[in-house]
Amino acid sequence: MRITVCLTDNNRPEPWVDNLRAELPDADIAPWSPGDAPADHAVVWAPAQEFLDEQQTLRGLFNIGAGVDALLKLKLPPQTRIVRLDDAGMSVQMAEYVCHALIRHFREFDGYEADAREGKWSYRRPRARNDFPVGVMGLGVLGERVGKAIGQFEFPVMGWSRSPKQIDGIRCFSGDKGFDDFLAASRVLVCLLPLTPGTRGILRRDNLLKLNAGQPGGYIINVARGAHLVDEDLIPLLDAGQLAGATLDVFQSEPLASDHPFWRHPRITVTPHASARTQREESVAQIVTKIRALEAGASFDELPGVVDASRGY
Ligand code: NAP
Ligand code: GLV
Repeated sequence: MRITVCLTDNNRPEPWVDNLRAELPDADIAPWSPGDAPADHAVVWAPAQEFLDEQQTLRGLFNIGAGVDALLKLKLPPQTRIVRLDDAGMSVQMAEYVCHALIRHFREFDGYEADAREGKWSYRRPRARNDFPVGVMGLGVLGERVGKAIGQFEFPVMGWSRSPKQIDGIRCFSGDKGFDDFLAASRVLVCLLPLTPGTRGILRRDNLLKLNAGQPGGYIINVARGAHLVDEDLIPLLDAGQLAGATLDVFQSEPLASDHPFWRHPRITVTPHASARTQREESVAQIVTKIRALEAGASFDELPGVVDASRGY
């Protein structure tokens, strides 16, 4: 069995190759170079079309991330299946990140920090968490974990997914029919959707105006993909006081340009696509388990995290 590793965006392939070789000593595993013999499986992050054009016998295209929007833009050999990371240590990080952003906003820690810089001892009036219902868009591997973590802090939690769900502690809405009610019932909006034609630009003015039953004070946490947000809509809504703030981890173009207004807006917090980082050892263990299952005769459809290209995730 031949496995090739093709990573971009400053991800070095060598440590991945070493970990994979340690787990699969009989396989032929190497970083990809143009002109290499085609592989049975590939471990990738955002590879170029040139790479796939050389992989006509590829069975599994194993992504070292959860989101597969970059892979679905490529032309794949007809038999190739995309397999994404199924948690692999990401959901706990996402829960930390979102709870931190939510609590920082709810408890007004930015205000305390500003006061502390001036040596000012001043209390803020406690706020009621029932006034801060949180809506999680996407109730998959990450969204469900995040929703449950938020529930631990006793905020009311709403969730929205494509198919109907029942999850303890989360008031679930689904599909286009449930979307407006979900937005109206949510004041803090967390985006954990995959980027698909149906979700691109979903964080846009008309939807954001429906938050919190149309009342001012909504807050946005986007940890999914930058193209979920219509950038031009955000700052006017913040400046008009309709939205109270936003925490953004993902951007239309990454790295975010140093002169982008998001960096310096007083009510936007920017992090550099750092909310849930890939954990190499856990990811290799998960990929190897799946490759072993395939080699033992399992079909792709039996494995978790196999992408349905027609749905886009
Ligand atoms: P997942 O398990 O596939 O979950 C996706 C969820 O979105 C599912 O609940 C799905 O509904 C829902 N959904 C999809 N299309 C929808 C639509 N049109 N309307 C309503 N709901 C829809 O994905 P995941 O592992 O949780 O990851 C989610 C995304 O997070 C990834 O795609 C990636 O872009 C992003 N991510 C970001 C980072 C970061 O560092 N910032 C790290 C990891 C992942 P159903 O349950 O009904 O199918
Ligand atoms: C990161 O953004 C991922 O999709 O894993």
